[in-house]
Amino acid sequence: METTLLGRRLPSPIVIGSGPLSYSAEGMIRLHQAGAGAVVTKTINQTAADNPWRHMVQCDRDTLINCEKWSDYSMEQWLETEIPRAVAAGVNCIASVGHTAEDSRLCVERLEAAGCMAIELVSYRDETVLPMLEDTKKRVRIPVIVKLSPNSPDLIAHARRCADAGADAFTACDSMGPVLKIDIETGRPVLGGKDGYGWLSGAMIRPFILQRICELRKVTNLPIIGLGGVAKWQDAVEMMMAGANCVGVCSAVILKGLPFVGQLNRQLDDYLSGHGYGSLEEISGIVQQHLPLEDQKAPYRMKWDETRCSRCGKCIRVCPYTARKWNEEQNMRVDEDACRKCGLCVSVCDCLTIQE
Ligand SMILES: Cc1cc2nc3c(=O)[nH]c(=O)nc-3n(C[C@H](O)[C@H](O)[C@H](O)COP(=O)(O)O)c2cc1C
Repeated sequence: METTLLGRRLPSPIVIGSGPLSYSAEGMIRLHQAGAGAVVTKTINQTAADNPWRHMVQCDRDTLINCEKWSDYSMEQWLETEIPRAVAAGVNCIASVGHTAEDSRLCVERLEAAGCMAIELVSYRDETVLPMLEDTKKRVRIPVIVKLSPNSPDLIAHARRCADAGADAFTACDSMGPVLKIDIETGRPVLGGKDGYGWLSGAMIRPFILQRICELRKVTNLPIIGLGGVAKWQDAVEMMMAGANCVGVCSAVILKGLPFVGQLNRQLDDYLSGHGYGSLEEISGIVQQHLPLEDQKAPYRMKWDETRCSRCGKCIRVCPYTARKWNEEQNMRVDEDACRKCGLCVSVCDCLTIQE
């Protein structure tokens, strides 16, 4: 499923976010062969990182906490070996560069010369990212993407300043935190950084990221790589509907393996054709058409599909107002006076649907 990002035709809308899978040319080539449209390198810095042991832990299903730093390869190795190898193998390579203007000025021209399709700047405060951006824009002609942090106190104002300073696109977003996980046998933090803290990524952060993308889309027409929390194809569809132009993914590929990339491509294709859409662009930002929401009290009824119901009783259990009950024939009854139309029951069971 092809798409266009920043003037480049990509074989797929899936962009692999900067992280451990793109630690080298070898990793990036594997991702490309697995069906990724583009791959963002592990963040390149003038100093190679030295990571604590342990620096990654699964938190809950499809969610990770990490305190991994930037790349543990030197800038020179990226410029001389990793980028040229990845580009020669056909990878659409986006170079992630952090975290100050001193770092970016040392490498961006050479990253462009080595064949990167874009530079992604990683640094979250105005004081650092704006000088990086202004300097990089003077040095290269390839597009410059700014990676945003969901932890930013005013992400939209920050993004606006980046757009004014010449950003060509945004990656939204990075991981969230800081967060903590404790080993209950020892009482020690699981991760090995100085404070034991880490950064949350994967399924748990998705609703936060969707909200950030939705807000961002209201203020900019620049391309957005939606990154954060995609763990199944439905999440990718949501990400696009919130306003993304491409679907970023990092943790899910780490946890599920490379075949997840191809699966996501196929499932997105099936979704589009099954719903009569001609392309992904058609669903990008679709939620905006429904905002702001108006009549929140439009009358609706909940329909119970008796034939599919296993009588598990979950919808009854979750009703805070005890509005749902079985009658003597084990059929669902709703006390319309007690029901506040909160909608929770419908969200926990496929046998219940809302009829507008
Ligand atoms: C282990 C790990 C290492 C990461 N390293 C980087 C990094 O070096 N630079 C960066 O910009 N983002 C880094 N990220 C953040 C991801 O690129 C991504 O923004 C974040 O994980 C949210 O996407 P996800 O929920 O699909 O994982 C890292 C994420 C993980 C899990």
